[in-house]
Parts: sequence; structure tokens; C-alpha cells
Amino acid sequence: MQDQIDQYTAEINAFSPANADELETFRIKFLGTKGLIKDLFEDFKTVGPEEKRTFGKVLNQFKQLAEAKYNDLKESLTSTDIDQKSDIDLTLPGDGFQVGSRHPLSLVRNEIIDIFKRLGFVVAEGPEIEDDWHNFSALNFPEEHPARDMQDTFFIKKNAGKDDIALRTHTSSVQVRMMENGKPPFRAIMPGRVYRNEAISARAHCFFHQVEGLYIDENVSFADLKQTLYHFVQELYGEGTQVRFRPSYFPFTEPSAEMDISCTICKGAGCNMCKYSGWVEILGCGMVDPNVLENCGIDSKKYTGFAFGMGMERIANLKYVIRDLRLFSENDERFLKQFQTEII
Ligand code: PHE
Repeated sequence: MQDQIDQYTAEINAFSPANADELETFRIKFLGTKGLIKDLFEDFKTVGPEEKRTFGKVLNQFKQLAEAKYNDLKESLTSTDIDQKSDIDLTLPGDGFQVGSRHPLSLVRNEIIDIFKRLGFVVAEGPEIEDDWHNFSALNFPEEHPARDMQDTFFIKKNAGKDDIALRTHTSSVQVRMMENGKPPFRAIMPGRVYRNEAISARAHCFFHQVEGLYIDENVSFADLKQTLYHFVQELYGEGTQVRFRPSYFPFTEPSAEMDISCTICKGAGCNMCKYSGWVEILGCGMVDPNVLENCGIDSKKYTGFAFGMGMERIANLKYVIRDLRLFSENDERFLKQFQTEII
């Protein structure tokens, strides 16, 4: 037994592990619950009583030697490990925290809502799947109007006329729902997605977004329309942005107009964005046609009002100079990351 202990002692003294794994093997071999020291203590039970005194001492010393060796090595190994592993270097800067960004269309929509809210407009929404009545008939579209044609509208159910079901082609359908379901005065804006059967390209898409506006009360005039939209443009694009109204036609407004603003990119000097005209069209508008009011159960002798509708992509293009409409719906992070990050 003494020989055995001498041999182990030599082994322990010579032991010099290269890494923590080797040290662990050492611990298991000598100090583990099924280790050699445990075996020696087992053997010790069998030695004669007179040898017990001397051997007991030797054995205890040997155990202490093994434990001390293990503890020393453990300490030196872990401290060099820290030096070598830079991932525990507390002086390194922390990992960045990724914050998302708002989609440019959301930014523009929120800004538009903000401006009109300050003028007392509420926000309303309607369904994207619409019937013929809300999308066309109530809005005074004649039966044979080309906008009802299969070319522009995605029909879901086609029953040759009145009970057609389609994806809404404009947010004007929400005007109808609002007037049918409430009592004037109305003062609301209605943002939402609309669909048209167009080939997808840089300049056209099969869906896009609009913001509709509706203002119905007694004695509302075209001057109110002009002033409201003029104010809106000054707020959105800055003081001094010029506006002009051109006569136009929509079945649901009379008179109707399209509104242009002085090009925000070249300030009217002429550029690619405004096709060198200095002006860009941003919305359609007009006084709500009395037929539409009557279709929605509103007394057109007592009430008048105006409506307008604008494309959000166009508004965003002018703000951020985005030249390809497809970017809005491709979810390319390189594109999306460029927009203002909101602090939460
Ligand atoms: N709905 C029209 C369009 O899609 C825009 C519009 C809305 C025009 C309201 C006048 C009044 O082009």
C-alpha cells in the first residue's frame, strides 16, 4: 500500500494539465466518488490495527496533497482561461439593440391623420371587399361607366350589375358607409388600401393606398374645400408650397377638381419628378354631388359638403423621392431601414 501511495504521489507531483478537461480527468481519477483515493480508504479498512496509526497519517497526507494540487491547478487554469477568452472582456462595448423603423406609408399616413385631426376630422375605416352599391352605384357611377369595367376592378362575384362584389377601387366607398350610418355633420378622413387591376411596374401597382376626406354640414362651400386643402399642404410640405386647382370630373362630385402642388423636389424649377412642369398632382376633390347625398339619405337642400381623395404613395414619393412603387410592398430591409426610427 505504501508503494502504491508513493507511485501515486510521484504521478500527482509530475501532473501538469494543458487544459481544464485534463484537470477534470485528474479529479475523477483521484478524487472522484469512484476514484483511487476512495479505493485506498476502502483498502485501509482491511489493514491490521497496529498499522492503522501509521497508514492513517500517510493516507490523509496523500489525500491532502491530491486536493491541494487539484485546487491550485484549478485556480491557475481558470485565471489563464479568462485572459485567453476575449468574450468575457468586460471593457468591450455591448451588442447593439435593434430597433425597428416605421414603414414610409405609415409615417405619411400618421402625419396626414395628425394634420386633419387638428382641424376636427375623425378617422373612419371601411371594408376592402365591397359591393357594387358602395363602390359605384351610390357614388353616382352610371351603369355603363368604364371604371366598372373588368379592366380596372378585381371582381370577386360578377352578377352583371347590382350585386357584384369586388375589391374596392377607391376609399370613396367609405364616404357612402359613413353617410348611410350617421347623421350630418360629418368631418372625417378615411385611410385604407385600394385595388385596381393594373400590370405591376415601377409606376403602377395592383394595390395602393388612399386617404379619403369628407366634410358635410350646412353652408359648406368650395371656398372651404380650397382653404382646408391649402392649409393641409402648408402643414405637410411647408409654408410657401403653392397649390392650384384644375377642373376635372368625378361621378360623385360636382364641381370636381384636381389639385396640384408646386414640385417639392425642384421647387417649381422643373425636374424628373414633375416631368419638367414644376407642378405635381396630389389629389382629386370636389363638392359632393347632391345625388350622392340623396342616395345616402341626406337632405341635399339642407346640406352640402366636399370630398377629396389622395394617393398615399404619391405623397410619400414627394417626401422621400421613391421612384419605384414596388419598393413599398417588397419588404426589403435595406429600403425600410432608411426611414425614421421611432423611439419607443
Ligand atoms: N375616388 C377618387 C379616385 O380614386 C378620388 C376622389 C375622392 C375624387 C373624393 C373626388 C372626391 O381617384
